[in-house]
Amino acid sequence: MSSSAVDFALKNYPRFVEELKALLRIPSISTLPEHAGDCRLAADSLATELKRIGMEHVRLIETKGHPMVYGDWLHATGKPTALVYGHYDVQPPDPLDEWLSPPFEPTERDGNIYARGAVDDKGQVMAQVKALESLLVATGKLPINVRVIFEGEEEVGGEGIADFVASKPPELKADFALVSDTELFAPGLPTLCVGLRGMIYTELEVRSSRTDLHSGVYGGAAPNSFVSLAQILAKLKDEEGKILIPGFYDDVIPPSAEELATWKKLPFDEEHYRISEVGSKQLVGEKGYSVLERTWARPTLDVHGIPGGFTGAGAKTVIPAKATAKVSMRLVPGMTPAKAFALYKSFVEKIAPAGVDVEVRLIHSGDPCVVAVNNPYIQAATRALHEVWGKDTVFIRSGGSIPIVGDFDRHLGLPSVMMGFGLPDDNLHAPNEKFHLKNFELGIISLIRFMEEAAN
Ligand code: BES
Ligand code: MN
Ligand code: MN
Repeated sequence: MSSSAVDFALKNYPRFVEELKALLRIPSISTLPEHAGDCRLAADSLATELKRIGMEHVRLIETKGHPMVYGDWLHATGKPTALVYGHYDVQPPDPLDEWLSPPFEPTERDGNIYARGAVDDKGQVMAQVKALESLLVATGKLPINVRVIFEGEEEVGGEGIADFVASKPPELKADFALVSDTELFAPGLPTLCVGLRGMIYTELEVRSSRTDLHSGVYGGAAPNSFVSLAQILAKLKDEEGKILIPGFYDDVIPPSAEELATWKKLPFDEEHYRISEVGSKQLVGEKGYSVLERTWARPTLDVHGIPGGFTGAGAKTVIPAKATAKVSMRLVPGMTPAKAFALYKSFVEKIAPAGVDVEVRLIHSGDPCVVAVNNPYIQAATRALHEVWGKDTVFIRSGGSIPIVGDFDRHLGLPSVMMGFGLPDDNLHAPNEKFHLKNFELGIISLIRFMEEAAN
């Protein structure tokens, strides 16, 4: 690999790790209003960094929520333009007592860096920035034109960037998007992600009485919001994981026989997955579909939390007047958030038990996507990955969602190269999130070599 940018990256790698740590110390939790200032701080520090490495027109672009960071370098005449995307916001770190080191004090242990956002997505955003720095500083230029857009609301649905993309602004004129927010299928196995699930995230509220009631005095006559909510939830999905909302599966487009055949060849050990990744007695889900099909190509429904009622220590005899569940559904190609939400809402209203009022609210949503693979950028990516990892690239889908990827295609006509470097056991959204440091290093080198190859 004779690239002066790669040499620069290897030489400066210890400093890159320290700079990643500085970004990880900022608790930019997009969903918690009290961290709005931290989100702006993270955006500012990325903007400062982009300016320092020689990107141009660097600025924050305001949204209704947290700002986006923009920068460009457009002097590679005749070469393609990449739209480099990542997100600086992170998920809340709770439960705090399960972290072995505090979530916003990045700590190195056994070749990993532990912190909230280490892999999702600050580590990968920094890999992109450090690839650009290595190219700009070592060679004085970039091999292709680059526009950078980092958002701060990916973990809450990405409404700000969605509005921006839909307005087709000149800042986003490009030939392809380079998204680093996904995982390798297995350690050491170069991977491109070519499909994501969409989602609708909802709140289901049940109100059962004027106020909270004494459960002895009124129990037997008054409806109970929690029991009613549980009855509704139990009717949404059967024991085999089939969603019972009428019409829910009508528009599902199954993967092609060819794509399914490639999934069968992936090195997947279901027992290892069950024991080491999931840690459950048994896997569940729809009969007749493999784990990869169930998580990549089938819709699902999950309950995230049921706040309310009495949850303190000891006992309180109360019939809570109100119960709320956070419920989301993952969507697959063919499905739309609007239709899925409408079907869900009318089904919940139909099955609501007697005596209670229900309200269903949509918090955020995103479309599913599959990306084009027959383009020169995917080819350049597989060439670069082969050189860095010494193996052929596998093409996978992921069950997670990155709402903006579908919008890049729909509104801007951009194919996305989803080149990410997480590992299946990196604990995304969970306690002890980590980024394998070797993947940070090889990620930077892969991104450098990809941009060099994309110029050819
Ligand atoms: N980076 C993840 C999505 C992901 C995870 C893709 C693993 C591929 C492999 C992203 O940050 C994420 O968590 N998205 C949310 C989106 C939602 C809040 C709209 C998700 O999937 O829950
Ligand atoms: Mn992410
Ligand atoms: Mn995430």
